[in-house]
Amino acid sequence: QFVAVILAGGSGERFWPLSRRNRPKQFLTLDDSGRSLLQATCDRLVELCGEPEGLMVVTGNAYRSQVLEQLPDMPLENLLVEPAARDTAPAVLYAALRIARTQPDAVMGVFPADHRVTDAPTFSRVVRQAIALAERSGQLVTIGITPTFPATGYGYIQRGEVMGGGNEDSGEEFTAYTVTRFTEKPDSETAQGFLNDGGYAWNSGIFVWKVSAILDAFRQHQPELYGQLSGAMEADSHGLTQRALREIFPQLPKISIDYAILEKSDAVSVIPAEFGWDDLGDWNALERLLKGEGENVAVGRHVGLDTGGAILYTTNGDDLIATIGLEDVVVVRANEVTLVVRKDRTQDIKRVVQQLKDHP
Ligand code: GDD
Ligand code: MG
Repeated sequence: QFVAVILAGGSGERFWPLSRRNRPKQFLTLDDSGRSLLQATCDRLVELCGEPEGLMVVTGNAYRSQVLEQLPDMPLENLLVEPAARDTAPAVLYAALRIARTQPDAVMGVFPADHRVTDAPTFSRVVRQAIALAERSGQLVTIGITPTFPATGYGYIQRGEVMGGGNEDSGEEFTAYTVTRFTEKPDSETAQGFLNDGGYAWNSGIFVWKVSAILDAFRQHQPELYGQLSGAMEADSHGLTQRALREIFPQLPKISIDYAILEKSDAVSVIPAEFGWDDLGDWNALERLLKGEGENVAVGRHVGLDTGGAILYTTNGDDLIATIGLEDVVVVRANEVTLVVRKDRTQDIKRVVQQLKDHP
């Protein structure tokens, strides 16, 4: 059996002010497909799971109703709600423990809710390969993307030896590698070194593993977290109150699956792949997402004089953005906020959001 777990509990701050605390990136429709990033993620996965029962979403309390609204076909029991956001490691463990109750032999896939994939058939094919490899090898399987610039916001996967590939089910050829080292979010110097080296791939954030394998890895590398969460789930399995989970979640360490497990485990492998993957990490992604008219990328009404390489975005049909003599800027007018930022500083939007949190 295969269960696809979608992580949809992030806060998407780098897309502020379009994404707000109560409506982060995964719930937004950024292109003209009419589907939000979360819905598009589901669309890609239903086919792989075969049935809505094979799809699980993990999200925060605050986003529960938005998930249900956007995914009306998903069975209620497949929505796991975290009483507090503790980053991706607790979210993954929560899902793994839940799946293990009824399907201890299942393979689970972990999928971020806020990515774009342009080549869906290749995506499906690669995930199938990963499932076959995870099943056969018991490894924690990652999917690696060829890096094109020294990004500091990604994890890097250093390829080791060829593990052999093949896909017994389909007879299709593919190559997988052992992972020598996994480095989450390096500084820019290290990232540049990885890029020059050529033996590194970006971590796509998509993982495939046996439920039993990831539970073993948590037991080994995060014994305390494992004990806390599995204890609470045992307590809760008798009632539907979720009381123990409500108590334990805020106390769990805030740690991502990358730091908690992938950097530590020596049972990680990688399948290099290309399927038009884009993390849509910040406003600059719009340029890749939407082919702009001429030099600028504009969503909503814009009038410009001597404006080049700009990203202009307004959600309100009545709003107009006018620019004169500007280069390489992002101007966003959304939710009663106007943001003007140089393209090379969009990563710092997080800091502005933090300031607002500290001094509302
Ligand atoms: N349920 C839940 N709970 N989901 C969460 C939480 C949480 O507390 N925190 C984040 N998520 C979700 C996000 O919504 C997103 O879909 C996914 O988990 C990944 O989290 P991000 O916060 O976006 O991670 P990242 O982009 O900084 O880094 C990860 O993804 C990169 C690729 O996009 C890492 O895996 C990197 O190594 C990787 O390169
Ligand atoms: Mg991300």
